[in-house]
Amino acid sequence: MPPAHLRRAAYLLVSVALGFAYARRSGTLVRVSALVRPCQSAVDVAAIEANLPTGPSELHARRFRRTAEGAVYLLAWLDNAAVGHVLVTAQSKYEEVRDRLGTFPEVNALGVATAYRRRGVARALMEAAARIAVSMGGTRLGLAVEPDNEPAVGLYQALGFRRHPTVDPVDEWTWIDDFGAEHVERDRCTYWSRGL
Ligand SMILES: CC(C)(COP(=O)(O)OP(=O)(O)OC[C@H]1O[C@@H](n2cnc3c(N)ncnc32)[C@H](O)[C@@H]1OP(=O)(O)O)[C@@H](O)C(=O)NCCC(=O)NCCS
Repeated sequence: MPPAHLRRAAYLLVSVALGFAYARRSGTLVRVSALVRPCQSAVDVAAIEANLPTGPSELHARRFRRTAEGAVYLLAWLDNAAVGHVLVTAQSKYEEVRDRLGTFPEVNALGVATAYRRRGVARALMEAAARIAVSMGGTRLGLAVEPDNEPAVGLYQALGFRRHPTVDPVDEWTWIDDFGAEHVERDRCTYWSRGL
């Protein structure tokens, strides 16, 4: 992990980075751009919660709190609306991955609001995540995805990620229902990575 001032510099770099993309409209390609920068405040958390609501689970707030332990929660903005997110950590959350593949940065919790999909927002988020991973000292970036998630698998293949065929971690996560009860989900995933 590089010193804190270098990580702050990386934050600044990403905060001014524009991710360019193309949207298909009426058969023509129209250029749009997504600004990607780290989530920095409760105001940012409220902005992403407005477009990708997580209710009592408060997933965005939980991810933002992980900034205190060195993670970076990136948000994508279009037309002043927070429309996408991804969490970057310095090492895998999965013990199986750390034991079998080693220690390198990982992205989790990638998501784009339904109305803004297929405009390159996820691509812009992943490119910014790769820059953050490099600033964390990483030479490889990993991720887990459920095998039947065709849009996500299509995205990762398009970005050059390759599957580790013998590493299938279980993603365990919790959510809270409207009555305050906590539920644990366990999803069998495939594991993918690419060099940086
Ligand atoms: C997966 C997801 C993040 C993609 O976001 P997006 O902003 O629509 O993706 P992009 O527009 O940046 O797509 C970039 C490339 O990914 C691939 N891709 C994206 N959506 C796809 C789909 N539905 N089917 C096949 N390929 C797809 C394409 O190669 C695409 O390039 P193209 O549009 O030039 O063909 C979005 O569908 C989503 O939020 N899904 C629900 C949450 C989720 O599954 N997250 C991943 C968890 S591992």
